[in-house]
Amino acid sequence: MHVVPVQTKCSSYPIYVGTELPAAKDVKTALAEHVEGESCLVVTDSHVGPLYGQKICDLLCHIGAARVAHTTFPAGEPSKTLATVERLYRAALEKGLDRQSLFIALGGGVVGDVAGFAAATYMRGIRFLQIPSTLLAMVDSSVGGKTGVDLPEGKNLVGAFHQPTFVMADVSMLKTLPIRELRCGLAEVVKYGVIMDAEFFAFLQQHVTLLCKPDLAFYEEVVTRCCKLKARVVREDERECTGYRAILNYGHTFGHALEVLSGYGQLTHGEAVAVGMGMAADLAVQQGLADPSLVEQQDKLLAKVGLPTEFMLSSITSADIFETMRHDKKVSGGRLRLVLPTAIGSVELRSDIDPDAVQHTIGGRCGKS
Ligand code: GLY
Repeated sequence: MHVVPVQTKCSSYPIYVGTELPAAKDVKTALAEHVEGESCLVVTDSHVGPLYGQKICDLLCHIGAARVAHTTFPAGEPSKTLATVERLYRAALEKGLDRQSLFIALGGGVVGDVAGFAAATYMRGIRFLQIPSTLLAMVDSSVGGKTGVDLPEGKNLVGAFHQPTFVMADVSMLKTLPIRELRCGLAEVVKYGVIMDAEFFAFLQQHVTLLCKPDLAFYEEVVTRCCKLKARVVREDERECTGYRAILNYGHTFGHALEVLSGYGQLTHGEAVAVGMGMAADLAVQQGLADPSLVEQQDKLLAKVGLPTEFMLSSITSADIFETMRHDKKVSGGRLRLVLPTAIGSVELRSDIDPDAVQHTIGGRCGKS
């Protein structure tokens, strides 16, 4: 088991990473410090609840929570709404949660974002624990305090920064994760290597067969390393003020546009991000910022873990993608802010790239201009 500390200006918390963590004595002791004598509402979804809901409720009762209730909503992005958050507030009131109580987010990114936002706002903010069940949530969304919901106009348009009190990333849960969902997280894993850690990228290249298996001991190391990298970013720029945290958006501005245009469902988030990373890397080469070998290495690793590096759908053109990108919330002062790699392990944030160059580069991976 590994413990990764996260330190921000106003809070600090541990991320426990390992296998079969509910049985680990250290985890139980650490969890009990937060939960003993308190009321807990376990928030989960229709996929994860039946698999792990009872186990987590039993763990909380066993370590001394005064009251444990649970609530489940339908799995998937359509549940990431204010209506779901309101249902959580009402469930919390009904179960008697007060300002000392905790929400427990048990699930993937949607559960963490929704439960985290409910925790950030219920009674002006209560504590919450993250128990991520997907690779994506373990390496990204459960760490760093971004919470929120979608509006019909776009993703993550309402939210709050609210750090969890504790994160328990039990990689044993990856055993029940569908392979496509596992790959979704692998896009973020590869992303960390490209944006901040060349040695980690080389490590992934060397052990790619263990990633595809998946080998749980290896995943423990991978998740730990990603959490350390994310903790470093969050410590330096918790609220994305200096721009440093924005490096985590590598491939995402292109990727979000693909997700929106393909109607959420055609591509997973990770697949869209993988194609987006390819577009960003192409653009970096086209701008003379990076060597073409960077694109080759990145494409090769993404393809080896089963992710797409281009997206061919005759109904979607590069002009559509570019237009959608211009409406992304990451547009700042009317300018597209793009994360572009300069070498494996380092990136630059650029707002000065010629729009025609961006659109032209997109066309290279989406087939139609
Ligand atoms: N997922 C990007 C971030 O946490 O900033």
